[in-house]
Amino acid sequence: MADESDHPSPNQDHGIVSETSPGTVTQNLDATEQHLEIEVEDDLDSAFRGSDQSSTSTSLASSVFNYVYENGRRYHKYHEGSYALPNDEQEQDRLDMLHHIFRLILGGALYKSPISNPRQVLDIGTGTGIWALDFADDHPASDVLGNDLSPIQPSWTAPNCRFIIDDVESQWAQAGGKPYDFIHQRNMVGSIGNWQRLYQQAYDNLAPGGWYEAQEFDVWFQGQAEELTPDSYIVQWQTMLDEASSKFGKQLNCAAQMKAAFLKVPFVNVQHEVYKVPIGKWPKDQKLREIGIFLQAQMMDSVEGVSMAYFTRVLGWSKEETTVFSARVRQEFKNNPKCLYVYCHFLRGQKPYSLPEFQKD
Ligand SMILES: C[S@@+](CC[C@H](N)C(=O)[O-])C[C@H]1O[C@@H](n2cnc3c(N)ncnc32)[C@H](O)[C@@H]1O
Repeated sequence: MADESDHPSPNQDHGIVSETSPGTVTQNLDATEQHLEIEVEDDLDSAFRGSDQSSTSTSLASSVFNYVYENGRRYHKYHEGSYALPNDEQEQDRLDMLHHIFRLILGGALYKSPISNPRQVLDIGTGTGIWALDFADDHPASDVLGNDLSPIQPSWTAPNCRFIIDDVESQWAQAGGKPYDFIHQRNMVGSIGNWQRLYQQAYDNLAPGGWYEAQEFDVWFQGQAEELTPDSYIVQWQTMLDEASSKFGKQLNCAAQMKAAFLKVPFVNVQHEVYKVPIGKWPKDQKLREIGIFLQAQMMDSVEGVSMAYFTRVLGWSKEETTVFSARVRQEFKNNPKCLYVYCHFLRGQKPYSLPEFQKD
C-alpha cells in the first residue's frame, strides 16, 4: 500500500511533479529526458508477428465471445476469473473516458518515451483498443498489436493495427516473431500478479534500443486529512479494495511499487515521473480543472464496476450490499471533498543497444 513516503510531498502546489530515477524530485519534466532514435527495420512487408506471439494466443475464436455474467455485470471468458473488472459497455465507456484523461494529462500525447517511428508496437491489455488505434493513426509506418483477455476491440481497424486475445501473464513465445520496438502498458494495475516476470518477458521481447512505457494511477485517493477520516466512504472503499485485490493476488494500488520490479530487469535510461492529478473542479488552473472534472465523473462511473467482483467474490458481500455501499462512495465523489487528488505514474526504460555477453543468446 502506498503511503506519503512513496511520493513527492502532497503539499507541493497542485500540478505536475516528477521523480527521475534514481529518485531525484524535479519540477522540470524535460530536463532529464534523453532523446534516442529507435532503430527500425526496413522490411515493410512482414507486418505483424503471427498468432504465435504467445503460447496461449488464439484467434478471436467463438469460445472467447462467450462472456460470463455475474451480479448484473459482464466479465471475460478467456482465462475466466483471472481479472476482476467487467468488460461490458459501461466499463468500455469508462476506459474510453480514462483514455481522454490520460491525453489531457500528457497535453494530447500518447506516450512520453523518446521514440521515433517504432516499427513493431505492442499494447498489452489494450481494453477497447483506443490507445492502439490512436497510435496506429499517428504512426502509419508502425505495426501495432493490442492484446487482451476480452474481445472488446473493434473488428474494423486501421490496416496497421490488429488485436488478439491473449494472456500477457502466460509465457511469451520466443520463436518466429519480430521483437518489439515499443511496448506500452496503461491502467493494468489489478491485472498482473508478478510485475517482475512481466517486465522480464517484455525486455526479452524488445529489440535492442526498444522502449517500454507504463502509465498507471494509484488506487489511493489523497486530500485534506480532516475530510479523509476513517469515516469517509472513500477511505473505507480504498482500504477494502486494497485488501480484496491483494487477497485476489493482483493488487490494485501497486503503481508506486512498479518501479522496484522494473529496476530488477536490466533496462537503462529508466525514468519515473509522478503527476499529482486533481479530482473535481477545485484547481484554479484551467487545464487542471478540466482534468479534475473528467476524473471526478470517471470516479463516479468506476465505483460499482471496480468493486462488484472484489467485494462479492473475495470479501463475501452480497450484490445488494455492494450496490448500496458503492452508491455512498459515489455520492462522496460527487460531493467532492476539497482538494481531492490522486497520483499518476509514468515509468519508462530502454533495452540497451549493446547487451552484456551474458545477455546475448
Ligand atoms: C483497466 S483496463 C485498461 C485498458 C487499456 N490498457 C486502457 O488503458 O484503456 C485493463 C485491461 O487489461 C486486460 N487484462 C487484464 N489482465 C490481462 C492479462 N493477463 N492479459 C491480457 N490482458 C489483460 C483487461 O481485460 C482489461 O481490458
